Amino acid sequence: MFKQYKNAIESSNIVSKTDINGIITFVNDEFCKISGYTREELIGQNHNIVRHPDVPASNFKRLWDTILQKKIFKSTVMNMAKDGSTFFVNTTIIPILDENGDIGEFIAIRYDVTKEVNLKIALEKKEKELEALNRTLERRVALQTRKLYELNKNLEERVREEVRKNEEKQKMLFWQSRFASLGQMMANIAHQWRQPLTELTLALFNMKRAAFKRDDEQLEAIYDEAKTMIQNMSQTIEDFINFFRPDKPKEPFEIAKSLEESMQILHKTLEKEHIEIDMSIDTSLKAVGVSNELSQVIINLLQNAKDAFIENDVRERKISLKVSRDGDFARIIVADNAGGIEESALERIFEPYFTTKHTAKGTGLGLFMSKMIIEKGLSGSIEASNCGDGACFVIEIPLAEETADVV
Ligand SMILES: Nc1ncnc2c1ncn2[C@@H]1O[C@H](COP(=O)(O)OP(=O)(O)OP(=O)(O)O)[C@@H](O)[C@H]1O
Ligand SMILES: [Mg+2]
Repeated sequence: MFKQYKNAIESSNIVSKTDINGIITFVNDEFCKISGYTREELIGQNHNIVRHPDVPASNFKRLWDTILQKKIFKSTVMNMAKDGSTFFVNTTIIPILDENGDIGEFIAIRYDVTKEVNLKIALEKKEKELEALNRTLERRVALQTRKLYELNKNLEERVREEVRKNEEKQKMLFWQSRFASLGQMMANIAHQWRQPLTELTLALFNMKRAAFKRDDEQLEAIYDEAKTMIQNMSQTIEDFINFFRPDKPKEPFEIAKSLEESMQILHKTLEKEHIEIDMSIDTSLKAVGVSNELSQVIINLLQNAKDAFIENDVRERKISLKVSRDGDFARIIVADNAGGIEESALERIFEPYFTTKHTAKGTGLGLFMSKMIIEKGLSGSIEASNCGDGACFVIEIPLAEETADVV
């Protein structure tokens, strides 16, 4: 029975016996196999023959303290084989007592856990590597995040800078276009003055004649007539100066009045070019902004139509000018029958400097400025299309509240 136990234990485990001093008295085949020593090399040697140099002495002290107290010692121990390789064994050392109760010998029963321990070590190593990787990854993510953040900040600054530059450019263009229209306005004034000047010359001539004839009554009448003419001419200049006064405050104004001003400035020019204006205007509508600016937009549109009539040599020249209400908006439509805008040009006409006219005739700023005024000054929109046999401009601007309230 005992022998059978012995066999069972010895065949399934690594077994050794030592005397009380740790001198090996017995080893089984398994012990020889794992340690790489022959039985002859082992018997009579101290058990520390398989001791691994890396195991601290304190471990052995604990082992001896335990077994010398006649207690069973249990631990996983690192050993070294004859060829210097390391193996791990799960070790149980049992002190065997003689009939007096003293320690007779020690039996050590072990089983090989090298694979498991190595696996555990490898796993721990991987875990550490992973941890390190994680840490560097975190650092790299933080670095990249900072870089991105800085890039973003730079980008924001650049965008701001570009926007600022753009705004400045727009402002400059705006003023440039104002000066350009100043030139056109001068031409209009010249037209306005041409007729009264001729009439004044005639009046002077008539006055001279009346003076010769000593016809005081006639003299007085001609004098009054001439005075009115001069007053009118002076008014034209007044209108003109008013028109170009910058930085006027935004306030509610009558759209119809604003259009009337445009007509005042342009009517001579239109008359001269035999352009008929068909007007249909809702006079109750008010918008908020600078009245003169809307006048300027209408002048630009009418001038463009006039130029197109001349360019295309149109005989029956008609412009229709309509102002109507659409909800809280005023819709102004300026349409001509001058042949329209070329399809390819249609999407570019609001760009600054886009012109199809001869350099002396157009700067290409008229519609650009008009769009600026409508969008920035009047918070509205302007669109161009071809309709009928000409171009058609539709302006929509929000009504002033006082108009909007009236149903
Ligand atoms: N009513 C129209 N009929 C045909 N073409 C038009 C009409 N209005 C504008 N255009 C086209 O749009 C272009 C741009 O007009 P815009 O008023 O901006 O500049 P311009 O009249 O050429 O020059 P500027 O107004 O600065 O003297 C014109 O050159 C013309 O080709
Ligand atoms: Mg123009």
